[in-house]
Amino acid sequence: MLMKASTPSSVLLVCLGNICRSPTAEEIFRQQAAIAGLNMKVDSAGTGDWHIGHAPDIRAQRHAKSHGYNISKLVARQVSAEDFYNFDLILAMDTQNLADLQAIKDELLGANSNEESLAKLALFSEEDPTYGGDSVPDPYKGDGNAFEEVIERIESSSKAWIESWKAV
Ligand code: 4NP
Repeated sequence: MLMKASTPSSVLLVCLGNICRSPTAEEIFRQQAAIAGLNMKVDSAGTGDWHIGHAPDIRAQRHAKSHGYNISKLVARQVSAEDFYNFDLILAMDTQNLADLQAIKDELLGANSNEESLAKLALFSEEDPTYGGDSVPDPYKGDGNAFEEVIERIESSSKAWIESWKAV
């Protein structure tokens, strides 16, 4: 498939804990990118530090598995300043994650990094015709439906990003 020259070569998916939404997004995005023939580095991280080193939440693992996504081997980590230099695009699962990421980026810009050397930031749903502008709701305190909703939204928004990079 022919892709636009502006297609990022690396994408980081970010949520709060890196144990529910963003590891699920990492696997779904990676699979969809591979299907589209995109050679892209895909990773995930959390803005918080509570779950560093942990496997994804067992509920997230089970719901992902039932849709054909194995996230059992992923390990949570916290987002860092280096990520802004190492990734082309960082996508936030919700508006709070986006604000927290923007604060890190603003600090780096204040410390004399130029905009072009830092990752672009966006809401994960930004390109999505169905869910555009929405947050992917935090399922941590929710039920099974919350985890199903996460998968539905992530499949939709991942597809929309990849569509947006296809050359027409
Ligand atoms: P995630 O979900 O951000 O989708 O990984 C959460 C996981 C843990 C917590 C909050 C959200 N927590 O408060 O520990």
